[in-house]
Amino acid sequence: MNKTILITGASSGFGRLTAEKLHKAGHKVFGTSRNPDEHQTEFELLQMDVTNESSIDTAVQQIISSVGKIDVVINNAGILMIGPIEEHSVDDVKKVMNTNFLGAHKVLKHVLPHMRKAKSGRVINVTSLAGLVGTPQMGIYSASKHALEGYTKTLSYELEQFNIDVVLVKPGEYKTEIFDNAFKTSDEISDYGNFKNKVTDASSTGPKAPAPEPVADLLFKAATMSKPKLHNRIGPFANVIPLLQLFPSVLKKVTKKSFNI
Ligand SMILES: NC(=O)c1ccc[n+]([C@@H]2O[C@H](COP(=O)([O-])OP(=O)(O)OC[C@H]3O[C@@H](n4cnc5c(N)ncnc54)[C@H](OP(=O)(O)O)[C@@H]3O)[C@@H](O)[C@H]2O)c1
Repeated sequence: MNKTILITGASSGFGRLTAEKLHKAGHKVFGTSRNPDEHQTEFELLQMDVTNESSIDTAVQQIISSVGKIDVVINNAGILMIGPIEEHSVDDVKKVMNTNFLGAHKVLKHVLPHMRKAKSGRVINVTSLAGLVGTPQMGIYSASKHALEGYTKTLSYELEQFNIDVVLVKPGEYKTEIFDNAFKTSDEISDYGNFKNKVTDASSTGPKAPAPEPVADLLFKAATMSKPKLHNRIGPFANVIPLLQLFPSVLKKVTKKSFNI
């Protein structure tokens, strides 16, 4: 059966690819962007800034007036900030948390009343493998994804009674615009210079990362299959991370080695 699907951050990367696949499969897709006029898409692209509640309200109302329901919401919009934690200003930390964590909550505050009323729905939150383990130079990003991970696990208990599925999709690093758009530290501290160079040289981000299609395939499945799992990891280290989490000292050694620190 065709579904009505809202996917935030559909102007590029995972969001755009997933929205295209869902649209081609015949679903009614509403993607979002802060600047929809700057992008051409086959699916409908609504204006939404997940940090701005009135824009969320307007977009959700548009969908409800035209289709009457939202079957699936994919909280995908996100930003990356790179650099050692001490170099980040409090305002920059707020910006990341407001987008990656509070943004999803704001969207759900507007979508869940419609799903509860319909006694049916699905929430898919895009977190990250960096939401499971600490990642050098991505501390605030990692914190925002840990927050969304914990939030979503609790949500799954609370929404089951309303027949609303809750799904976490946790990708490793894939080549999307997120690395080009990432913003860097605002207060450079020279003591971190050597550390930053080492981590940057060893990192598999940006051009070295794999193409994002497998993540869009997983999001497509999560949105359309009848009984999705809560936890869905994908990426080169996806299978080994839960095992390493059982042995924190080994996890630390492996992480240090892979980041050359
Ligand atoms: N790429 C990776 O390696 C990777 C790994 C793990 C998890 N993730 C997660 O996957 C999700 C998608 O990222 P991506 O890699 O596909 O990055 P991307 O290509 O940069 O796409 C990010 C999307 O988020 C939107 N966005 C950013 N800030 C927004 C805001 N305040 N309000 C509304 N939309 C906003 C952007 O749209 P506009 O600029 O048009 O508004 C864009 O469509 C993110 O949550 C990211 O953290 C990515």
